[in-house]
Amino acid sequence: MTIKICRISGDGIGPEIVAEASKVLDTVLAGSGNSAVYQDVLMGGCSIDKYGVPLTDEAIDTARKCDAVLQGSIGGNTTTSPWYKLPPEKRPEAGLLKIRKALGLYANLRPAYLYGELSESCPLAEKNGEPRKFDLIMVRELTGGLYFGARHTEEVNGILTATDTDVYNENEIRRIARTAFDVAMKRRKKVTSVDKANVLDTSRLWRKITKEVSAEYPEVSLDNMLVDNCAMQLVRDPEQFDVILTENMFGDILSDEASMITGSIGMLPSASLCETSFGLYEPSHGSAPDIAGKNIANPLATILSASMMLRYSFNMTKEADAIEEAVRKTLSDGIRTTDIMPADKVKAASMKPVSCSEMGDAVAARIK
Ligand code: IPM
Ligand code: MG
Repeated sequence: MTIKICRISGDGIGPEIVAEASKVLDTVLAGSGNSAVYQDVLMGGCSIDKYGVPLTDEAIDTARKCDAVLQGSIGGNTTTSPWYKLPPEKRPEAGLLKIRKALGLYANLRPAYLYGELSESCPLAEKNGEPRKFDLIMVRELTGGLYFGARHTEEVNGILTATDTDVYNENEIRRIARTAFDVAMKRRKKVTSVDKANVLDTSRLWRKITKEVSAEYPEVSLDNMLVDNCAMQLVRDPEQFDVILTENMFGDILSDEASMITGSIGMLPSASLCETSFGLYEPSHGSAPDIAGKNIANPLATILSASMMLRYSFNMTKEADAIEEAVRKTLSDGIRTTDIMPADKVKAASMKPVSCSEMGDAVAARIK
């Protein structure tokens, strides 16, 4: 089978990490007698430079005609890049929001798993004298809430005033809640729904609908947790979580926190899914403009996103497992990009420091 992938390398470290993910993908597919064809499209700052907009309608059409999207990262330095002098709807991030909305990618899955090999890089203290061990997945609503509600800036009585609107309807909540419960059924059957129901109406509706959906899943337990408490619990006791279900903005913030406790933001993949098998796969991290072009970025989040693509869009379980196994073997062989080097000098001395492309080579070489 030949799978058709729309490839969006994007800005900053995007092209470097996507090249490594493509390398690993091609290796694993060749091993099982399959292949991928790539249609490259521009999104973000590179599209602004070429077309004056962060995402063209043609690019969206190309994505629609493919089976899945593999994406790097978009955007630049928000204080120094000229892209951020443009009106908000012309900036790089607007392209990302546009593609998520246009393709109906409402369910964002972000697994945060601490590899035993990286427990040294986990910033949390040991638990009862043992290395940390957690495995959770964030199910983030991706096409609603504050990100897509009406916004404007106006002068009210001579005072500049900005408004953003947080909107959710019950159907949007119901479908993402079902995604979370479906995911939980394949895991440890525990959903923690995160909201700010002590303040926000959207959160109170979130709680009501989530409770209704939970009745469809008698085997799955449901807890509600306030978002500020969740931020604290993630660094106190991440072992307590299985599936975290939350809205767009909270999920954005909490998933960065969840990624950091796995050792590095460079480790966290993500899948953005719709009602069909189509999906967009990207690392959860940003474009890291400060290290772009230096071949030092960690490509593992993107490589693991490619594995999620094989699993969710193509049902290629064996190939997806092979990538994850190869990543694990690479880590246990002591191969490290700088972001996952242990801080301890003695431990670091037994590791092999590698570049972004060497990390891609190392994973590809370990594909069985
Ligand atoms: C993410 C990113 C995006 C988001 C930005 C780049 C708009 O932070 O995917 O988490 O906020 O969703
Ligand atoms: Mg984010």
